[in-house]
Amino acid sequence: MHAPIISPSILAADFSKLGDEVRAVANGDWIHVDIMDGHFVPNLSFGPDITKTVDKVTDQVLDVHLMIENPEKWVENYRDAGADCIIFHVEAVADEQAAIDLAEKIRGMGVRAGFSIKPGTPIEPWLDKLKHFDLALVMSVEPGFGGQKFMPDMLDKVRALRKAIDEQGLDTLIEIDGGISASTIEESAAAGCDAFVAGSAVFGKDDKAAAVEELRTLATKALAH
Ligand code: DX5
Ligand code: ZN
Repeated sequence: MHAPIISPSILAADFSKLGDEVRAVANGDWIHVDIMDGHFVPNLSFGPDITKTVDKVTDQVLDVHLMIENPEKWVENYRDAGADCIIFHVEAVADEQAAIDLAEKIRGMGVRAGFSIKPGTPIEPWLDKLKHFDLALVMSVEPGFGGQKFMPDMLDKVRALRKAIDEQGLDTLIEIDGGISASTIEESAAAGCDAFVAGSAVFGKDDKAAAVEELRTLATKALAH
């Protein structure tokens, strides 16, 4: 068992002081950067320039979640912007082979490759392809907005991933994104997640570092069982 990875999502940060917000969660492990294009999801966030700005103020791992169409056209831009991990949606690529090819391209650039899966997309077709990916991101809300309610049924996908990863002896990380808070992180850790994205549960608090610490404590406790 390794220590839980807490990845605060800057989507919920105050953009008027983004640098300070990122520095306020320096006790987190990663920084989650949500990229939305207004097409793949019905919302727009930011792009490579803001990502680069975030990279300048932190040494933390930049966990870049692409909620965009044609992700293959953008991976170089995000590599150049400082992404350490690039996660694209399986729903945004043509088929399974295209996902494997894109993961290979990302890894070839020296960046970790992840896939993400929307709530309505089954995980089964991906369970025998995990060796191509460094990370699997399970969405526990419909992608597009922060502050939504956690969907506990998504933990079935986490359990299926955990079983497949362990059986295949892989070190692919399982990350969960959407509605993670002090009341949902323990069940997520117990289901087998390694990494936890939290937007409003961190940036919605006055003491953001304390919120990160609380999430870490709860996840660590649940992982120990
Ligand atoms: C949703 C994004 C999430 C979002 C999570 O589409 O992918 O990363 O920031 O926000 P919370 O933690 O508030 O649900
Ligand atoms: Zn995200």
